[in-house]
Amino acid sequence: MLSRAVLIFAVVISLAACQSQKKEINFPKTDLSSVPLIPKPVKTVPTNSAFGLDSTTAILTSANDPAFEKAGRFLAEKINAKLGFKLSVNNTLEEKEIDRFIYINQSDSIDLKTTESYQLYIKKDSIYLNAKTAAGAFRGVQTLRQLIPEQSNDTLTDHPLWLIPTGKVYDEPQFEYRGAMLDVARHFFTVDEVKKFIDLLAYYKYNALHLHLTDDQGWRLEIKSWPKLTEIGGKTEVGGGEGGFYTQEDYKEIIQYAADRHMIIIPEIDMPGHTNAASLSYPFLHAGGKADKPRVRTDMKVGYSSFHTRKDTVYAFLDDVIGEIASITPGPYIHIGGDESHVTKKKDYLHFVEKVEKIVLKYGKKAIGWNEIAQAKLDPSTIAQLWNEPHSAMKAAEGGSRIIMSPAKKTYLDMKYDSLSQYGLTWAGMIPVDVGYNWSPENYVEGLPKEQILGVEAPLWSETISNSAELEYLAFPRAIGYSELGWSKPENRDWEDFRQRLAQQVPFLNRMEVNYYPSKLIDWAE
Ligand code: ACM
Repeated sequence: MLSRAVLIFAVVISLAACQSQKKEINFPKTDLSSVPLIPKPVKTVPTNSAFGLDSTTAILTSANDPAFEKAGRFLAEKINAKLGFKLSVNNTLEEKEIDRFIYINQSDSIDLKTTESYQLYIKKDSIYLNAKTAAGAFRGVQTLRQLIPEQSNDTLTDHPLWLIPTGKVYDEPQFEYRGAMLDVARHFFTVDEVKKFIDLLAYYKYNALHLHLTDDQGWRLEIKSWPKLTEIGGKTEVGGGEGGFYTQEDYKEIIQYAADRHMIIIPEIDMPGHTNAASLSYPFLHAGGKADKPRVRTDMKVGYSSFHTRKDTVYAFLDDVIGEIASITPGPYIHIGGDESHVTKKKDYLHFVEKVEKIVLKYGKKAIGWNEIAQAKLDPSTIAQLWNEPHSAMKAAEGGSRIIMSPAKKTYLDMKYDSLSQYGLTWAGMIPVDVGYNWSPENYVEGLPKEQILGVEAPLWSETISNSAELEYLAFPRAIGYSELGWSKPENRDWEDFRQRLAQQVPFLNRMEVNYYPSKLIDWAE
């Protein structure tokens, strides 16, 4: 391995040395700072020339680090999809001359402050992408993808060059958590549909997808110790469709696909309310009392179901369920829901949340719950997800918890854009693209210190949608705006500027066959 490391280093050095001898191309003046990057980087410094990407450009990566090589291969694959040629990756033994190279470099520079920080140094003959970790390299690769123009310049040499503006990009996220949520319980989405959503989110530097796996209308993850959850609970969904579920192998496939994009999956088992499908599968779980008797539910009502909170058998069940999920989930979090338990008595609710949180901790994970869980005495490692009660988020924060910002009025991807929207609900109001963008997660809750905000998540509930096209209609373009709220500094966020950059996403969205909502607020590129 050492010899390979030396070899690649030697190649990079010798390439750098001989490039000065190449004949000069007169590149047109470029402006790195005017490329419509989303999310907007911390800083760009244009040097107004160009790197001419072509099929002979080589990708090289830090030796001895397979994860950096993987980032290089991902870049090569995406360049192939966009431009139709395959660049070599770490192919140092090839005979053909390398004119230009992209070097993805592991660096321990103190300027790279977070695991996702990266720097791009773009010169005429080389691009250096520096990152401390492969996650940072991967985020930088997304920026590089966005820097490659759609059109080649065919006049500078005897073959086309795709001109990447020269200069420097310094970048890092402002929040460590940038997520979206997909409700696969109200309607089931296939593994391929989830993968496509992950792919789109990764391009905009998201690092988490929260899967709402269970609700009144369906249970979507195989639990080997309790098979009826999917045999019975997996067969239903809103509107009476056939439902579906992920086998544990399916779930692992989704996790791997996300991990390949440096994203984590957060599994949610929503409880003690939203549990009709589980109680229908195993009636001993049902609370009785005010809670509706379990039956197949395909309607959109909420707040009528509850687990029994005082039976040891319920906690033994949850120990199995959480244990199995923890064992197949590499990410640090398990979401325990906790919202809208309207038929659970308050003292029972508190008892339940505290017991379930301990089970999550026992399996080495951190718990996340919707903001209602702040009524309980929480472990400081537990995270509260604000959706409707800023004061609950504040209470959780006072107890040491960190907060995920998902205020329904601003971030719920299932709210209609406007009165013309084909899909979506309106209970939290309509959320046009500008309303979704024009708010500050940093200031939304008065008095909440920024350090206690883990990040931003945009949830997509699926009562009114059941396939990729409908998912994309609600998620895009709004999810693109939330990527910027999570990643970019407040001083780099501006609606007018964002609106222009958003308009330029059309070639990417079209290439990916995304059924985005063509909001009239945006002058979409032709
Ligand atoms: C929620 O919207 N019930 C979290």
